[in-house]
Amino acid sequence: MADANFEKVASLDELAAGDTISVEVGDDQILVANVGGNIYATDDVCSHAYAMLSEGDLDGDQIECPLHGALFSLITGEPLSPPAGEPIRIFEVLVEDNDIYIGPEKL
Ligand code: FES
Repeated sequence: MADANFEKVASLDELAAGDTISVEVGDDQILVANVGGNIYATDDVCSHAYAMLSEGDLDGDQIECPLHGALFSLITGEPLSPPAGEPIRIFEVLVEDNDIYIGPEKL
């Protein structure tokens, strides 16, 4: 059973490999991505300006911002190409039974 710091956001059936979804956890809009069966969670809002990364293209473990094309690592949150210079936050993920839970920010 997931602890109280984790919130169920989706089931695995809703997120096929290569797909992304956007979920709300508290005040945060979070991108959840399935990369070859590994689930990652990051800020959905780009660190450069206001765009939802979940509307961009997933390329392996990187997401491309749909507005200006910056690439971010889903594993580290670091920007990998301009114009973004600031990282996005990454969050703990737990998969239990068929459910995806999002936890605190990974520091
Ligand atoms: S808003 Fe994402 S790169 Fe500009």
